[in-house]
Amino acid sequence: MAESSEVLVVSAPGKIILHGEHSVVYGKTALAASIGLRTRVRLRSSSNGATRLHLASLDISREWRLESLSHAIPIIDGIRNPAPPQADSMLILRQLSQSDKGDIEDSALLVFLFLYTHICSASALPGLDVEVGSDLPPSAGLGSSAAYCTSLAAALLAATHNISRNPSNGRWQQEDLELIDKWAFRAETLIHGNPSGIDNTVSTFGGALSYQSGHISELKSMPTLRVLLTNTNVPRSTSTLVSAVKDNVNKFPDIYKPILDSMGAIAVESKRVMEALASGTLPEVSVACNTLESKDDLFCVLETLIDVNQQLLMALGVGHPCLEQLCRVTRKHGLHSKLTGAGGGGCGFTVVPPGVGANVVEAVRADLVRCGFVCWETDLGGPGVCIPRTEQSLVQEK
Ligand code: PMV
Repeated sequence: MAESSEVLVVSAPGKIILHGEHSVVYGKTALAASIGLRTRVRLRSSSNGATRLHLASLDISREWRLESLSHAIPIIDGIRNPAPPQADSMLILRQLSQSDKGDIEDSALLVFLFLYTHICSASALPGLDVEVGSDLPPSAGLGSSAAYCTSLAAALLAATHNISRNPSNGRWQQEDLELIDKWAFRAETLIHGNPSGIDNTVSTFGGALSYQSGHISELKSMPTLRVLLTNTNVPRSTSTLVSAVKDNVNKFPDIYKPILDSMGAIAVESKRVMEALASGTLPEVSVACNTLESKDDLFCVLETLIDVNQQLLMALGVGHPCLEQLCRVTRKHGLHSKLTGAGGGGCGFTVVPPGVGANVVEAVRADLVRCGFVCWETDLGGPGVCIPRTEQSLVQEK
């Protein structure tokens, strides 16, 4: 365990789905990338016989006496192969995580207790003081729960010396990152039941990933892509939207399946274009444009793919007037947007090509804020979970 004076800070990013939401459920390729909005965990030892958790963004603090947690410590088969949570210890942890504040709060407390009692199970539970802050809005499709699970798993694994950083570059080794990812995935199942695993994987490894039928592969390289992220603040439920799409697909397979095929093709094409942008080579893209002569042409293709996918998502029934308004407003400034995640509200993103000046971005942002939306400008494909080099406040300035 870390010395009592030592403070350990870990941060992990959220994600956006660039292409492939919904169609991924039907075995098509999806493309996701890390974003600059992150969750930060600050952990130190405490010697007062208790463990305290403070979740700044949810405005919740809880303290548990160590003796009340001792009968919830599971017997596990080592740290390196996290097994699915066991029913008996989860029953106790669920009772200890009731907050009467709401489901998000209860799940956040449960995830903490799960990771803490499991990762620290090898010896007597250490008393800890843990603070968590996040730039990520919850339930908006930006992977806030995965960033929470990933940063907590990494902090606890580091504090218990189950992972160690490479002295030459200060980063965790691949096998340690894989271990963080496995624990984060187990924790995510407590929140989402049966998640695909893409959110925790992006949060752990950063960069951009493609995902198809359980197989996750890293993009060979990721160009610097600037985006404006917009939260319409319209609440939506991923599971309700996924089952509404399923109803449509079951009722009219000949109509909806071609839409899903197109979405899969868009994700594949977009991956090729992004790899070409990163490597500086021009691919033979299969869209109806003649020859590609420059980076600007590649951005044009990316923008076309974004527009087409947005229309397809609306045809699938997961649009929302606020998302249409977001696309209209950015289009007025010559920028292209689509929803990201489940749709029906939530977030969208707008690609900002390299030549677009700060004044244009500010004008777009101001128009979007006037619609009642919240915006962040961020790069895509940044680092995954890490110990930041410099001391950071728990929540970044917007
Ligand atoms: O908005 P999110 O992050 O919950 O994304 C959901 C993505 C879907 O494809 C709609 C569902 C899924 O499980 O992949």
